[in-house]
Amino acid sequence: PARILSGMQPSADSLHLGNYLGALLNWVRMQDEYDAFFFIPDLHAITVPQDPEILARRTRITAAQYIAGGVDVEKCTLFVQSHVPEHAQLAWVFNCLTGFGEASRMTQFKDKSQKQGADHASVGLFTYPILQAADILLYNPQLVPVGEDQRQHVELSRDLAQRFNSRFGETFVVPQPAIQKDTAKIYDLQHPNAKMSKSAQSPAGLVNLLDDPKTIAKRIKSAVTDDGSEIRFDRESKPGISNLLTIQSVITGTPVAQLETDYQGKMYGHLKVELAEIVVERLSPIRQRVEELLSDPAELDRLLAVGAEKARGFAAGTIDEVYRKVGFLPAR
Ligand code: TYM
Repeated sequence: PARILSGMQPSADSLHLGNYLGALLNWVRMQDEYDAFFFIPDLHAITVPQDPEILARRTRITAAQYIAGGVDVEKCTLFVQSHVPEHAQLAWVFNCLTGFGEASRMTQFKDKSQKQGADHASVGLFTYPILQAADILLYNPQLVPVGEDQRQHVELSRDLAQRFNSRFGETFVVPQPAIQKDTAKIYDLQHPNAKMSKSAQSPAGLVNLLDDPKTIAKRIKSAVTDDGSEIRFDRESKPGISNLLTIQSVITGTPVAQLETDYQGKMYGHLKVELAEIVVERLSPIRQRVEELLSDPAELDRLLAVGAEKARGFAAGTIDEVYRKVGFLPAR
């Protein structure tokens, strides 16, 4: 089967609804059909300062959320990035194939470094997308299931694959982003023109997978809505309502057009109450499963060790080939 690969940063105590609907749900759907690699990019997390204990804890919590959300370790390869040193090894080679100007054009770096003040941003944050290209190309996946905000990073990995291939001979598959149109972007509940993000100014716009039911219901019920009263999908003039309709549509599998019909003549409040119930019902079992998994960290670590072993088996082959092709003298 064709291969897929993706990951989510362990940079918060919980994934949010955007991560879940924009990425995790698609992974789970795809793992039956594809040879899937899912990992936790902890190397990426330290591109901004992290407390060591918190980082380790969040790495486990993120793994637990993958599994609780439906990632099946029997079907796919689940691992932690830092357990597979080949990621950093390939990233170095790609650092040397990427132009300074090319890296400077990555919009996520521009956003994040602006937030921190350009002088405080680390060089790691600058080369972040190059490490991401290494993550991807190490495993030669055809598809990379991500949300819209990762499109540019996948583009860079395509460029680097082509560049390496033309310079050193056919080596890498040129991957495609797999971006689900309707869930590509879930928006902040308070600022429905900004994407839902862990770094939002206020938590009120976020629904976290691990929030308790009360908090989830409250966040959804106090979501910002729009002028007018009609429940209709219109990203331009009704970004708040459109976001709520998207969320409901993706969770229930009901097309947005059908929801529009169902809610005809009803009030915004009606939609919110129903949606709050739907989201709580979907997330509660995930939260419970995460708690169970975290109650046995040794078992979780064992699963991750098995995954790392499988991943290394693959990644080591890629590094051997790359090192030979760039002219490194084989170690004896
Ligand atoms: P991260 O951790 O920011 O996000 C994880 C995934 O969630 C998606 N996502 C969203 N989708 C819809 N609406 C939103 N509001 C929303 N917010 C986030 C992201 O698009 C992503 O798919 N650089 C990556 C991690 C990474 C990676 C990789 C991904 C490192 N190496 C290799 C794929 C392949 C990141 O920071 O994602």
